[in-house]
Amino acid sequence: MVKAVVAGASGGIGQPLSLLLKACPLVDKLALYDVVNTPGVAADLSHISSVAQIEGFLPADDGLKKAFTGADIVVIPAGIPRKPGMTRDDLFKINAGIVKGLIEGVAQFCPDAYVLVISNPVNSTVPIAAEVLKKANKFNPQKLFGVTTLDVVRAETFVQGITGEKDPAKTVIPVIGGHSGETIVPLFSQAKPAVNIPADKLDALTNRVQFGGDEVVKAKDGAGSATLSMAYAGFRFAEKLLKAANGESGVIEPTFVYLPGVPGGDAIAKETGLEYFSVPVELGKEGAKQAHNPIPSANDYEKKLLQACYDGLKGNISKGVEFVANPP
Ligand code: NAD
Ligand code: LMR
Repeated sequence: MVKAVVAGASGGIGQPLSLLLKACPLVDKLALYDVVNTPGVAADLSHISSVAQIEGFLPADDGLKKAFTGADIVVIPAGIPRKPGMTRDDLFKINAGIVKGLIEGVAQFCPDAYVLVISNPVNSTVPIAAEVLKKANKFNPQKLFGVTTLDVVRAETFVQGITGEKDPAKTVIPVIGGHSGETIVPLFSQAKPAVNIPADKLDALTNRVQFGGDEVVKAKDGAGSATLSMAYAGFRFAEKLLKAANGESGVIEPTFVYLPGVPGGDAIAKETGLEYFSVPVELGKEGAKQAHNPIPSANDYEKKLLQACYDGLKGNISKGVEFVANPP
C-alpha cells in the first residue's frame, strides 16, 4: 500500500506529474495538495481507470494534515518558477518560505516519508528542508532527496546529437554537483557505454546541460520554466525510488543529498568540503542506500568544472541553512 502526495499539484509541473503518478501501478493512493485548484485537478484525474485512488486537498479544513497523513512519498514542486532574466536564486525569497511550511507539514504528519524536493533553488531548498526536519527531531537524511534528474535527462538527450544512439536513455551519464548553472557538472568521461565527444564540441555540450533550464525559460518567454520535462524527470526519480523500495536491486540515480547522513557520503563531503551534493546514489527500501563517488575518476576538464561548482554551491547551501537558523 503506497500513498503518494504531490504538493504544488495544480501547477505546471504538478499537474503532469500527478497524471504520471495516477497512471503508475506502484501507487495505491494519491493526494494532491495545493493552495488552489486541487479539487478540479483531482476530479479530472479521478476518471482515469488506474489503480490509484485520488483526492484533492486545499489548506482549508485541515487539508495539509489530511493530504500528508500516512504518506510514504511526498513530491514537492510548489513555488514560483523563473521568468527570463531571473536566476534560480531570485526565487529564494518566495520559495524558501513555501518549502519551509510544507516540510513542517512533513515533520508533523508523515515524518517517515521519502521527500523529493523539486522547488527551486534546489541548492538551498534541500538544506532548508533538512534544517526544518532537524529542528523537529525528524531528520532522516536517507529519505531527503533534491531532484536533479532533469539535468541527467538533458545530458542523455543532448549527447545523443553526437552519438546518434537511438534511445538516449540507454547512455548513463553521471551529472553531479548542484542544480543551477555552473554547479551542474556532467561527467561525460564516465558515460556508459563510453561516448567519444570531439574536443571542439565538449564546451558547448557541457554548457547546454548546465544552462538547459535557461533555454526553456527563454523559449517560454515569461510563461514559466520547464514543466513537462520536469514532470517526466520527477516521475522517473519517484518511480525508481518506489521500485527500489519494493526490493529491486541496482537502482542508481544522481540526487542531491545530505552527505554526512548517507552511507559513503562522508568521503565525498571531505573531498568537496560540502555537506550537500548530488552524486549517483544507490536506492533501496531505506532510501539513499549508498552514495557513489565519481570525483576521483573525473578528468582535468571536469575537475576544473568541479572547482567552480564547489564555489557556487557553498553560498547556496549556507543561505538555506541560515534561513532556518535565523528566519528573516
Ligand atoms: P507553477 O507556478 O506552475 O506551479 C507551482 C504551484 O505551486 C502552483 O500551483 C501554486 O499554487 C503552488 N503553491 C504555491 N504555494 C504553495 C504552498 N504553500 N503549498 C502548496 N502549493 C503551493 O510552477 P512550476 O512551473 O510548476 O514550477 C514549480 C517549481 O519547480 C519552481 O520553483 C521551479 O523553479 C521548480 N523547478 C525545478 C526543477 C528541477 O529540476 N528541480 C525543474 C523545473 C522547475
Ligand atoms: C530547470 O532546470 O529547467 C529548472 O530548474 C527550472 C529553471 O528555472 O530553469
